[in-house]
Amino acid sequence: MADAKGKSRRLILLIVFIFVAGIGFAGLFNASLSATNEMEFCVSCHTMETNYLEYQDSLHFKNPSGVQATCADCHVPKAFLPKIATKVIAAKDVYHEIMGTIDTPEKFEEHRWAMASRVWKKMERSDSRECRTCHEFKNMDLSEQGRSARSRHARAEDKGQTCIECHQGVVHEMPREPRVKDDG
Ligand code: HEC
Ligand code: HEC
Ligand code: HEC
Ligand code: HEC
Repeated sequence: MADAKGKSRRLILLIVFIFVAGIGFAGLFNASLSATNEMEFCVSCHTMETNYLEYQDSLHFKNPSGVQATCADCHVPKAFLPKIATKVIAAKDVYHEIMGTIDTPEKFEEHRWAMASRVWKKMERSDSRECRTCHEFKNMDLSEQGRSARSRHARAEDKGQTCIECHQGVVHEMPREPRVKDDG
């Protein structure tokens, strides 16, 4: 009898332990996810790259209303599963950091078109999802926009166009497409 009591007590303790450990783990997991979204984290590798300096000149860094879009706002999805997928894929960045793939301005420029192309593809596939966490066609006051913006935006949705088709190079300069070796 006493033995059975001891057993169920241990079982309850075990359940409590797993429960508490689970909360602790989830907390750590979440904390590490958000820590890896901090701008300081991104620029600890993407330090002196021209595209970071270019960003600091952009309206997404500083503007009259004081709303800032950070690296992760545009490059890391908010929804859980796409976010995890992005983090897992980003492990390749650590590999390339160790290999020094973009560790000089020259190498960075050489790689730039390929990297930008990956970002464009991703944004086309997601219908510019990250842009739309802040911007929506339906919330735009078209009457306050310039003529060309107004007419493009009014029709973009019907035509199935997405932000990144028209707004490349919005914070970083447009990279140059590498020249094909033989010009024939
Ligand atoms: C450990 C160093 C390191 C950290 C931290 C890091 N990056 Fe990178 N990143 C790299 C390297 C190296 C590349 C080039 C990878 C390649 O050529 O495939 C890269 C490539 C990129 C690209 C180009 C597109 C692509 O898929 O290759 C983007 C965008 C990017 N990083 C954004 C970010 C953002 C946003 C953060 C912060 C959330 C971040 N990086 C944190 C090293 C890093
Ligand atoms: C975190 C919120 C946020 C995200 C994400 C975001 N933006 Fe913005 N965007 C802003 C703010 C804030 C401004 C400045 C508004 C102002 O003061 O006029 C702005 C301005 C702009 C402008 C006009 C100024 C300029 O630099 O040309 C364009 C175009 C634009 N965003 C496109 C985009 C696109 C494309 C994306 C996705 C790649 C994107 N934005 C992602 C918040 C955001
Ligand atoms: C068919 C092309 C097209 C599409 C698609 C498009 N835009 Fe634009 N947008 C323009 C043009 C052209 C302008 C005016 C010139 C400029 O600022 O680049 C503009 C201007 C803007 C501006 C500045 C408006 C102002 O007058 O202050 C913002 C912000 C903006 N776009 C955000 C977006 C976002 C976010 C999306 C996706 C939800 C988007 N645009 C989709 C063509 C487009
Ligand atoms: C407003 C959205 C936005 C913000 C904020 C932003 N990026 Fe980007 N990033 C883009 C887009 C869009 C591209 C694709 C190339 C282009 O159109 O400029 C890109 C491309 C890149 C690339 C590929 C190389 C290149 O220059 O094209 C890297 C690396 C990168 N971003 C890193 C960063 C880092 C690091 C930060 C923060 C310091 C940051 N980005 C902030 C939208 C953004």
